[in-house]
Amino acid sequence: MSLQGKKIVLAVTGSIAAYKTPHFVRLLLKAGAEVKVLVTDAATQFVSALSLATVSKHPVLANVNDGATWNNHVELGLWADAMIIAPCSANTLGKLANGLCDNLVCAVYLSARCPVFIAPAMDEDMWLHPSTRANISKVRSIGNQIIPVAHGELASGLIGEGRMAEPEDMVAFLSAFFSEENKPLKGVKALVTAGPTYERLDPVRFIGNFSSGKMGIAVAEALADRGAQVTLVLGPSHERTFHAQVKTVAVESAHEMYEACMAVYSETQVAVLAAAVADYKPATQATEKIKKKEGELTIALSKTDDILACLGKIKQEGQTLVGFALETNNELAHAKEKLKKKNADMIVLNSLKDSGAGFGHDTNKITLLTKDGKKMALPLQSKKDAAASIVDHILELRHAEKIV
Ligand code: CTP
Repeated sequence: MSLQGKKIVLAVTGSIAAYKTPHFVRLLLKAGAEVKVLVTDAATQFVSALSLATVSKHPVLANVNDGATWNNHVELGLWADAMIIAPCSANTLGKLANGLCDNLVCAVYLSARCPVFIAPAMDEDMWLHPSTRANISKVRSIGNQIIPVAHGELASGLIGEGRMAEPEDMVAFLSAFFSEENKPLKGVKALVTAGPTYERLDPVRFIGNFSSGKMGIAVAEALADRGAQVTLVLGPSHERTFHAQVKTVAVESAHEMYEACMAVYSETQVAVLAAAVADYKPATQATEKIKKKEGELTIALSKTDDILACLGKIKQEGQTLVGFALETNNELAHAKEKLKKKNADMIVLNSLKDSGAGFGHDTNKITLLTKDGKKMALPLQSKKDAAASIVDHILELRHAEKIV
């Protein structure tokens, strides 16, 4: 297990498990990391700042403003290769999920560009409460890593789920995350499309769709987590990613998306087209606002380029091309047809008939269809987990073709 040279910000919050953190700091240092510790006020009721400062060999910071000095949370966020919040109390979890910022831990969290690991610790009833479940799912969906809680004796005397993972297990979790073995796509360039496209009708109106971009962004991050250098071509979306290995190219229309894809495709080994691209655009774009008139208005539409089909046509050996199919009826038949017609290696099918799947949700229910005729139906899961499954299957495909 090695964390050689890794700079880690450890944020300790108010839970009895905080008493284990000096030992945790020792283990991190032993694994080769440098550690700076932050505490909340509540944390200091369970562990002393002096102990943590002594073992970490750095001052322990508690407030954005320590009297005469301002603790630069942005600088700390940039300094870190990883931030780990352990133990993370239900209170802090709620703040992280909602972007609240009333202490230094939250300020550093909001400033951090590095991966963030959250090790929750609370009583079982709190852990299982729907509010906590929703907060966990929220912080995961925005890219944080959750270190699973352990089962065992709790501070309340009850036996159950909610214990903070043991310090040894947390070090193992971090080491595995940074291990090169977990980066099978290192050196691979990937292209992902996400979000909707907007096709302008006049200066104030467009034709678009309800895609949020969440699924495509999750795929981009999952590829990057496995080591790929990702170009994310993102249509108009409120969602974004801060993953260091993902470069976002913002586009508006299907044509702009097509051009952005063509610009990088020849140097790309994996392409996943998750965007909901408009199939038609207004045949002409009015330069002035279209005025209301008596009677009906008919708009002539012309076809956009089918980006997936275009990439499928020029696909070379060693390139893996994945498309999505969002269907409302005859799902399997339509998805199989798209797989073949567009020369894709895999199609990710989601049906709008499945509750919790499709546009805007944080979850998705997908079926993977590969060109060798395999079909894998996956359960309803977070978009982050669904993205990880998609990347696992891309790796399997590439292994089967002896590409990786
Ligand atoms: N796609 C694309 N360019 C388009 C249309 C679709 O790249 N102009 C891609 C999507 O990103 C997706 C796949 O093609 O990966 C299937 O998209 P979908 O909208 O389900 O299928 P269409 O081919 O548009 O067919 P239809 O709308 O008739 O279902």
